[in-house]
Amino acid sequence: MDSRARRPESPWPALGYGAGLRAQHYTEIFSQPSRIDWFEAITENHFDSGGRPLHVLERLRRDHAVALHGVALSIGSADPLDESYLAKLQALAERIEPALITDHLCWCGVDGTVLHDLLPLPYTEEALAHVVDKVRRVQDRLRRQILLENPSTYIAFAHSTMPEWTFMAELAAAADCGILLDVNNIYVSARNLDFDPYAYVDGIPVDRVAQIHLAGFTDMGTYLFDTHSAPVSDDVWSLYAYACERFGEVSTLVEWDADIPPLERLVAEVDRARAIGAPRGGDDEKADAGAVRPAATIGG
Ligand SMILES: [Fe+2]
Repeated sequence: MDSRARRPESPWPALGYGAGLRAQHYTEIFSQPSRIDWFEAITENHFDSGGRPLHVLERLRRDHAVALHGVALSIGSADPLDESYLAKLQALAERIEPALITDHLCWCGVDGTVLHDLLPLPYTEEALAHVVDKVRRVQDRLRRQILLENPSTYIAFAHSTMPEWTFMAELAAAADCGILLDVNNIYVSARNLDFDPYAYVDGIPVDRVAQIHLAGFTDMGTYLFDTHSAPVSDDVWSLYAYACERFGEVSTLVEWDADIPPLERLVAEVDRARAIGAPRGGDDEKADAGAVRPAATIGG
C-alpha cells in the first residue's frame, strides 16, 4: 500500500503524466500511440482561430485532457488587466474546455510596453494585495479558478518581506486560486539566490497544488539558466520525489522547449516522472529518486 499522503478531497483534476505540446511533435503524436496522458498548450499560440496550432489542439482534445498555459497574462504588472486578452482567453477556453488554465506569477511589461519576459515581483504585502485583486478579477471573468506558477529567478528585490513560497501560499489562500509548482524553477531559483529548495516545498500548502512542472536547465557556471533545453537533472528528480511525498500524486508535466528531442525521448522523461509520482504498489521497489531530504541541501 502506498505510504504517501493521499488527497481524497482534492478539487483538482487527476490528469496523470503529460508533456508540453510542441509543433515538432505534431505528426508523431497522431501517427503513433504514446504514453503521454495529457498535453499543455501555450495559450497565446492558439488565439488565432484559423491557424494550424488551434486545429491540432482541437483534434488532440478529442482523446486527451489539455491545459492552457499562458505566458502573457502579466498578472503582477501595475498595468490594468488587458480586457482584449481576457476575451481571447475566455473564447479559447470555451472552445477547448481545458482541464486547467495556468499562467505565471510575474509581470511582463508596464505602461503598455511588452518585454516578452517573465519578470519576478517584490514579495511584499502591497504586491500580494495587488496580485490577489487581479487574480480574483480574472477568475470572476473566466468563472473558474486559475493556477499560477512560481517563476525561475535570477535576482531578488531587497525590499521583499517574505520568501517566495510564503507569497505563493498566501496568494493561493487569499485569491482562492491553485498553484502550478514548477520543481525545476524552485531548484534553479534556489541555486541562483541561495535558499533551501526543500524548505520551499515544505512551505507550499498541500491542498493548493494542482499541477507540477518538470524541465531541464543549463548550468552557465555562475548561475543556472532555465532553458528547458535538457533532460531533467538528477537533483530536480530528487526534489520532485520529495514533493510527491508531501503532495501525493499530482498532475505532472514535462516541459522541453529548446533543442527539442524526438517524441520518444520526451516520452522517456514522462515515464520517469510516472515511475516516481504514481502511487506505489505493494512495496517500495519503484523508482527511488531520493525522496528523503538531503542532510546538506544547497543554500540551507
Ligand atoms: Fe514551468
